Amino acid sequence: MCISQSNKLFRLKPIVFKIALVFLLSITINRDHIPSNSPSVAQTPQSPRLSLETMRFDGNLSFDNIQHASKDFGNRYHLMPTAVLYPKSISNIAQIIKHVFNLGLTSHLTVAARGHGHSLEGQALAPDGVVIDMESYKSPVMTFHTGEKHPYMDVSAGELWINILHESLKRDLTPKSWTDYLHLTVGGTLSNAGISGQAFRHGPQINNVYRLQVVTGRGDVVTCSDEQNADLFNAALGGLGQFGIITEARIALEPAPTKVKWIRALYSDFTTFTNDQERLISHSRGAFDYLEGFVVINRTGLLNNWRSSFNPRDPVQAEQFTSDGRILFCLELAKYFNLEGVGEIELEVDSLLTELSYIRSTLFLSEVSYVDFLDRVHMSEMKLCENDMWDVPHPWLNLLVPRRSIHSFAEEVFHNIVKDTSNGPILIYPVNKSRWKNGTSLVTPDENVFYLVALLSSAMPYSVGRDGLDAILARNRRIVKFVGDSNLGIKQYLPHYTTTQEWRAHFGDKWEVFLRRKMAYDPLAILAPGQRIFPRANAFVRH
Ligand SMILES: Cc1cc2nc3c(=O)[nH]c(=O)nc-3n(C[C@H](O)[C@H](O)[C@H](O)COP(=O)(O)OP(=O)(O)OC[C@H]3O[C@@H](n4cnc5c(N)ncnc54)[C@H](O)[C@@H]3O)c2cc1C
Ligand SMILES: *[C@@H]1O[C@H](CO)[C@@H](O)[C@H](O)[C@H]1NC(C)=O
Ligand SMILES: *[C@@H]1O[C@H](CO)[C@@H](O)[C@H](O)[C@H]1NC(C)=O
Ligand SMILES: *[C@@H]1O[C@H](CO)[C@@H](O)[C@H](O)[C@H]1NC(C)=O
Repeated sequence: MCISQSNKLFRLKPIVFKIALVFLLSITINRDHIPSNSPSVAQTPQSPRLSLETMRFDGNLSFDNIQHASKDFGNRYHLMPTAVLYPKSISNIAQIIKHVFNLGLTSHLTVAARGHGHSLEGQALAPDGVVIDMESYKSPVMTFHTGEKHPYMDVSAGELWINILHESLKRDLTPKSWTDYLHLTVGGTLSNAGISGQAFRHGPQINNVYRLQVVTGRGDVVTCSDEQNADLFNAALGGLGQFGIITEARIALEPAPTKVKWIRALYSDFTTFTNDQERLISHSRGAFDYLEGFVVINRTGLLNNWRSSFNPRDPVQAEQFTSDGRILFCLELAKYFNLEGVGEIELEVDSLLTELSYIRSTLFLSEVSYVDFLDRVHMSEMKLCENDMWDVPHPWLNLLVPRRSIHSFAEEVFHNIVKDTSNGPILIYPVNKSRWKNGTSLVTPDENVFYLVALLSSAMPYSVGRDGLDAILARNRRIVKFVGDSNLGIKQYLPHYTTTQEWRAHFGDKWEVFLRRKMAYDPLAILAPGQRIFPRANAFVRH
């Protein structure tokens, strides 16, 4: 979020919460487990504010300092909560949830954890409910366990990844798997997956966590791992906040490098590009530490802005390379190293690069510190903030495309639907999930190798043209429709749907498990209402 907020926020119609899942819940909920103070005939629900004001509670529950909790990075949904909890302890969180749970079917109250509020579609909002400001809660210290064979650190889930990076580097250690942007919270990314250029080696962030502490939708505080309460552990990982509030996480660490060789090279042929990407992720070891890629659409001229801090290996030829406005694909790689090992690394990188088939004159290299590499998007954030272009609407679309479909997808989406303007970066890179943790709530395509395709659009405020919100949303709808109609086995990442049918289709054969876990850990559907998967169970919509 920019420090000086611009007031030019879009005012959009509040979305209407009307998922017809009540029906489904009403037949599945085991009513014995629900507090039975609910009326059997419909009457007016208790005022949410009143029911919070009258509870006995010694935590910091604010009815005034709530404005920031009504919006997110997507900047399209603006919905006020009734109150924001600034927790001082885990038991504050448990108390609030228990209170809401005990109101049972007499209340509409919901509870959402808010990490850094960097959701795209209102997922961290709780309209008329309680938002828990996780970032304001810091456990006393981050605790390190460095003597072990597998070192780790315990952190509070509201901690930003950037702070975790800085703290772990003080001990020459680092987490293994990241997101492209580090001003996100641990709880927020673990509720999705946390996928970036390291995921092909280490799996997403949910693969690199040994233990969680969770407050369930019943207000119970539970420690879980693969050994203990494994079902809740798996449920919470990639669980879209549906099963509990993650309060603490134990993060896997490894020795930290100090420097990074950062490489970009261009391709004009899509198949050559994906072949090289797939070849690189199949190296079992000794290959790169990070692999991503992006689409370069309609950039005419000398292609200077996307590589400003990179040096061409062949300056003379690179100077002459022009794109003619055709679509290009940029492979992005990184190799970590320490200064003592620099000679060896250079040989290794050169040998890996000779295997590849990029356009020879377009190899660009850069050498940066490990921190600057990982925090790279924050640098762009600061620039965009200066131009008032960070706090704009972000109609993003993230898809996981199975390998067998990537060519049909690219043909239709890059060459047809978004052929002229992209309104922001389009990332594309493969991962291989065969060694990823199985059984979490994360939904992926059925094929082991799939591509993350991220269309990270920014809408120009007030524009009604191709760079405006409506045009980008229309384009996204075309893509989603194509994906739905074409039966390509594509899944959404950071999924967003409005009907139960769509959610069911998204989860596919994981739906039954997801539903069972919901009944077990949050039977009233109190948690993370902004995901709009389950409506809050209550007595007033029942007939
Ligand atoms: C600039 C930018 C770059 C990004 N890059 C990547 C990337 O490279 N890879 C990637 O995988 N994702 C990426 N994302 C997406 C990001 O991981 C998600 O949007 C994530 O949810 C944001 O984290 P947050 O802390 O802001 O969560 P919030 O938006 O605050 O919350 C997200 C959801 O999780 C729930 N939640 C939050 N905290 C908790 C908790 N402690 N326990 C239970 N539920 C909780 C919320 O209720 C909400 O439903 C990016 C987002 C942005 C804005
Ligand atoms: C994916 O990983 C598995 C296990 O390491 C391997 O057998 C398989 O060949 C990989 N697939 C590709 C396309 O790299
Ligand atoms: C490419 O972008 C320019 C503006 O930079 C625009 O005028 C032109 O129409 C675009 N070309 C195509 C093929 O869409
Ligand atoms: C992953 O889990 C599913 C069910 O949760 C199971 O059917 C499948 O066989 C598992 N796959 C592997 C590779 O363990």
